[in-house]
Amino acid sequence: MSIIKLENLHKVYGKDNYKTVALKDINLSIEDGELVSIMGPSGSGKSTLLNIIGCLDTQTKGEYTLEGRKIIGLSNKEMSKIRNTTLSFVFQNFALLKDYTVYENIELPLLYRNMKKSKKKEKIYYYMDKLGIRDLEKKKPKHISGGQQQRVAIARALVGEAKIILADEPTGALDQKTGKELLDLLISLNTEGKTIIIVTHDVNVANMTNRLIKLEDGKIIGDNKVINGKVME
Ligand SMILES: Nc1ncnc2c1ncn2[C@@H]1O[C@H](COP(=O)(O)OP(=O)(O)O)[C@@H](O)[C@H]1O
Ligand SMILES: [Mg+2]
Repeated sequence: MSIIKLENLHKVYGKDNYKTVALKDINLSIEDGELVSIMGPSGSGKSTLLNIIGCLDTQTKGEYTLEGRKIIGLSNKEMSKIRNTTLSFVFQNFALLKDYTVYENIELPLLYRNMKKSKKKEKIYYYMDKLGIRDLEKKKPKHISGGQQQRVAIARALVGEAKIILADEPTGALDQKTGKELLDLLISLNTEGKTIIIVTHDVNVANMTNRLIKLEDGKIIGDNKVINGKVME
């Protein structure tokens, strides 16, 4: 069974003269444990697609099935429960809360979990260590660098230990070395069994995944395996 299945999916923003068709007839299945990249020109619908997969937005038409469950007409509460447990998101602009410390930002996905405080702390420190940001614990986002902010965003995405990680241009704002480290981390998480979808502009990033989906003008125009850094046409 596919962990993610999209059938005849359409997404339209606005109406009448202000209508934008962002996704057209998307059919896509992703299996548990895949490492997928999505590429396409600006405005081709990449973020829209990722947002729908991530239950941040819903389709206008068509069907989305996540772990066998149809995602349409769910209440906000149900959507946020899914976002909190099944999926985690690494946003393009990090989306850290500026008045919260690094520790508090990473804690967010655990706030509504029924988990002992000591257990939460243990998990948060585990991911801080993994990302090399333990010493930033008490700092606010504006007092750390872009690369460090990105790592905080990743730690926040990981701490909930969701099965699926969605990343929208996660290396876009990073220097090459930090970008490579982040990618290595995503790949190691995939090796541990997580399903990962990365939207990227960078063909080198796409070449490190196992499958490349190309979008253009809201449509899938390519869906190819990537083996040993080569896209199989
Ligand atoms: N909230 C929105 N309201 C109206 N139009 C939108 C909205 N978000 C995206 N769009 C439009 O949908 C299309 C796809 O956008 P997007 O998914 O952000 O593309 P990408 O991430 O590939 O750059 C673009 O034409 C964009 O202007
Ligand atoms: Mg985008």
